[in-house]
Amino acid sequence: MMTENSKLGKFIVFEGPDGCGKTTQLKLIYQYIREQLAQEVIMTKEPGGTEISQKIREILLDPANDDLEDLAELLLYSASRAQHVKQLIKPNLAEGIHVLCDRFVDSTIAYQGYGRGLDIDLIKQLNVMSTEGLEPDFSFYIMVTPEVAKKRIAAKREFDRLEKNEVDFFQKLYEGYQQLLQADDSKYFVDGEQPVDRVHENIKTLIKKKI
Ligand code: TMP
Repeated sequence: MMTENSKLGKFIVFEGPDGCGKTTQLKLIYQYIREQLAQEVIMTKEPGGTEISQKIREILLDPANDDLEDLAELLLYSASRAQHVKQLIKPNLAEGIHVLCDRFVDSTIAYQGYGRGLDIDLIKQLNVMSTEGLEPDFSFYIMVTPEVAKKRIAAKREFDRLEKNEVDFFQKLYEGYQQLLQADDSKYFVDGEQPVDRVHENIKTLIKKKI
């Protein structure tokens, strides 16, 4: 297990429902850390981040796989994460490089747990296994209401099988994220309904203090 001494870079996670704008914010912060703070940093995402994890991502997001079982889906997210943590995240942190990650373990609790209804304790155990106990130094939760998330997604793509079948999926996701936010003071709420530059300023202020 990685100890505090072997983890020199900061591990910073961006969470939130689809359509919250986290990927845009992550890219802006990446530029800020590199160019303004002149520190080494990489950007990565889940599922994905390594060659094998990317292949798993393709299975997970392929619309042709709409008969994927919920449990199989959970295990694939976990497998992708195990590969990603071991091959990319930990080695970079150990080199003193900051890692910005688009989604991490809380996405599994929010989507597979609160969204799909799988057992949250089981997911937490799997999360500990797949990360070998690695936790983010801090996370930004970019939150938008279920109505806004729904509208933003509908403007871009079709709803996936669960979003389509369960009218309250977005509500469940939102409530899940709210619960997760309350559980830990290393998680920061960010209002994702503000203009992009305002959201960026809010995150930047915290980053400046923290790294
Ligand atoms: P992305 O669009 O943010 O790259 O994420 C891909 C999708 O995967 C998104 O709909 C959220 C979902 N997801 C889960 O359901 N569980 C997880 O553990 C992760 C990391 C993502």
